Amino acid sequence: MAQNTVKFHKLTRIYKYCFTFAQLYQFLIAFIMNILLLGAGGREHALAWKMVQSKLCSKLFIAPGNAGTAQFGININISATDFAAQKECCLENNINLVVVGPEEPLVKGVYDFYNKELPQIAVIGPAAFGAQLEGSKAFSKKFMQRHNIPTAGYAEFTNENFEEGKAYIAKHTLPVVLKADGLAAGKGVVISSTHEEALAAFEEMIINKQFGDASSKVVIEEFLDGIETSVFVLTDGKDYKIIGHAKDYKRIGEGDTGLNTGGMGCVSPVPFVDDVFMHKAETRIIQPTVNGLAAENISYKGFIFFGLIKVNNEPLVIEYNCRMGDPETEVVMPRLKNDLVELFLAVHNGSLKEQTTAYDDRACATVVAVSGGYPGEYKKGFEISGLNNLKMNSNSIVFHAGTKQIDDTVVTNGGRVLTVTSYGANITDAVKKSKAVLQQIHFDGMYYRGDIGYEFE
Ligand SMILES: Nc1ncnc2c1ncn2[C@@H]1O[C@H](COP(=O)(O)OP(=O)(O)OP(=O)(O)O)[C@@H](O)[C@H]1O
Ligand SMILES: [Mg+2]
Repeated sequence: MAQNTVKFHKLTRIYKYCFTFAQLYQFLIAFIMNILLLGAGGREHALAWKMVQSKLCSKLFIAPGNAGTAQFGININISATDFAAQKECCLENNINLVVVGPEEPLVKGVYDFYNKELPQIAVIGPAAFGAQLEGSKAFSKKFMQRHNIPTAGYAEFTNENFEEGKAYIAKHTLPVVLKADGLAAGKGVVISSTHEEALAAFEEMIINKQFGDASSKVVIEEFLDGIETSVFVLTDGKDYKIIGHAKDYKRIGEGDTGLNTGGMGCVSPVPFVDDVFMHKAETRIIQPTVNGLAAENISYKGFIFFGLIKVNNEPLVIEYNCRMGDPETEVVMPRLKNDLVELFLAVHNGSLKEQTTAYDDRACATVVAVSGGYPGEYKKGFEISGLNNLKMNSNSIVFHAGTKQIDDTVVTNGGRVLTVTSYGANITDAVKKSKAVLQQIHFDGMYYRGDIGYEFE
């Protein structure tokens, strides 16, 4: 009996130590987890908003950030592609984790740079080779072909086989889709309803080098007629977790008219993305993509953005992006219940399989306010008023995109200026709340679409 009591005491002492070590570990991680977030848009404001809610986030730095990100961390005036300057910043501020917002640094090899120069830092984003899923349309098409992932039929052409390309276009069914192979800031896709227009666009890209190197190769693709949605995934290179899905509104005008923009609004969840559709997307697209990356030893620890289209109830891939979308992040992050930094650490450690994701049941919508003239020419530097005394509750969040703080005022600094996300009982309710907040904000030339989510009313 006495022996048992001694044993029990010993055990509780050991247990106590374990407990203290576990606590100490948590404390140390929380204490040392300094994060550098790269980028300057609404996506980065939403990521910053989400990361500072994490128990693992000690200090947050944003390079270069905007007036909104400065509410959650320290903006550092370094470009997202200036890796050498980032290295200095990381060493000075004991950064443990770098989260990459935009595609450009990823395609330019930010992961590879850190891996070589600062291997102690965890980087969320693929290496340059894997970033080609977004950085090269031809690479992503071949990847999908190798792994039997459903996508539009295609062919690729360069200067070398330009004449062959012309003949291919001339015989192609209409409409026909032309895509510059490389990054073209969202402007590299042309959908032509006549062969003449398609041939002219083809010549413009290849011969006149419309997008420089990015259009030295062109992918010509079959047109898919359907409804689009985007699914967002985090992967550690072996396993993946779906962190949300959304539908964005690209056109400047109400009723989806006018020029394409970076995104005028977004909603989540998307009513037509039901369990059946999601199951098909997972088994036919998401799993084969992640398995394909693993099978080909492609280093990928980051986000995958699956741009999907539903044609006759079947999902096909329109595109991959190697980062989160903007404004999709502004509805995906508010609905994701997980600790984002914990997910990032699992991505880095290769333990994503052990995580479970959970989402807020409410709908989320975001409505983007843009500068007058956008997506064409527009002026910057207009004072934004109303931000400091908004009448809104915790159902709404203002995310900054193209904004800048000058002394006590916030001024416009881009085409897409800010976006208001709201939670609602349904999409219509969420949009209504966002618009009520936008009505209290003003800058010269401010414009937003009043009909975000119109088809789900
Ligand atoms: N094969 C296709 N059939 C029909 N529409 C298409 C096709 N390919 C692209 N599109 C349309 O063009 C848009 C842009 O194409 P894609 O996503 O490939 O280009 P991107 O420039 O990489 O876009 P993003 O800037 O969103 O990353 C798509 O969202 C879709 O609406
Ligand atoms: Mg893309």
